[in-house]
Amino acid sequence: MTLRPALAAIALLASPGLAAEPLPVGACINMGNHLEPERESGWGGKRIDAADFARIRAAGFDTVRIPVRWSNKVGPQPGYAIDENWLARVTEVVDQALAADLNVILDDHNFEALHEHPDAKRGKLAAIWRQVAAHFADRPTARLWYEIENEPHGALTNANLLATLAPALAAIRETNPDRPVVIGGGNWSGVDSLATLELPDDPNVHPTFHYYEPFDFTHQGATWAGPVPKAGTRDYGTQADADRLAADVAKVEAYIARTGRTPFMGETGAYDGGSSLAERVQYHAAVHEAFAPSGIGMCAWAYANTFPFWNRQTGQWLPGLREAFGLPGN
Ligand code: GLC
Repeated sequence: MTLRPALAAIALLASPGLAAEPLPVGACINMGNHLEPERESGWGGKRIDAADFARIRAAGFDTVRIPVRWSNKVGPQPGYAIDENWLARVTEVVDQALAADLNVILDDHNFEALHEHPDAKRGKLAAIWRQVAAHFADRPTARLWYEIENEPHGALTNANLLATLAPALAAIRETNPDRPVVIGGGNWSGVDSLATLELPDDPNVHPTFHYYEPFDFTHQGATWAGPVPKAGTRDYGTQADADRLAADVAKVEAYIARTGRTPFMGETGAYDGGSSLAERVQYHAAVHEAFAPSGIGMCAWAYANTFPFWNRQTGQWLPGLREAFGLPGN
């Protein structure tokens, strides 16, 4: 039987075990701690400029993920009008990245109240995305992708995730009918969230997960991350670490087999205040090597202002990290 292409595409997606086209994330890096604070880079570091994206592209990255806190930049309900200056600045940054020939993942980050009160706040999330999506609707669909909410956690779980995000997805679809949209699962989008992550029936929705395992290594000394060991108390690279990594790759493989969709790793990294550069290099290399055969895209956390790859003081890439991430280096 021959199917028209559109029908064939639907049949493909409806058949478990057959692959849906993965999002071409490739090698990716997060512009972390730039557009989440109250003022750009208010947590330390510098503002983004076009040279950052040129440098990132020249290093071999295909994609940047741009975390943005929108929820404290809006007016009163029901419209929740986004502050014009903030929207203009985010637009400038997104367009700089697109102009540097990078794909862009634009997210909603740190909307803490949504995670505490998903039912009460989902309308605000939808209002934010209605505006953001309409604003960027004419940017290339193949190159700019929206991620509805970073790291669902707290009261926002896989059980209520789709109900909570559905109004935002519908708002996006009013103006961006087939733009890629990214959804990560509950419990901070950890790799275990994939086991119960169900996505909406939309061929342009793509799964993501974050990878900071083992957390007591990657977040040692990270005071914002809850009860973690002190800096410098945990090395990486034991047999148990290797076994865990292999088991976590198997979880991703199981997800691909179950759903036919290939997730990407939207964040991975180790806190520079907690472990040495040599150990961070070792960690990135181990994670990259383990997950690469699954064909998943990976986004390092982060570019310069936190968990840095680029050293703003010296104006150089930190030695070894790009190579560990599968890039050529110098
Ligand atoms: C998440 C948080 C971010 C933090 C990172 C690593 O993306 O939103 O603030 O720096 O994880 O812990």
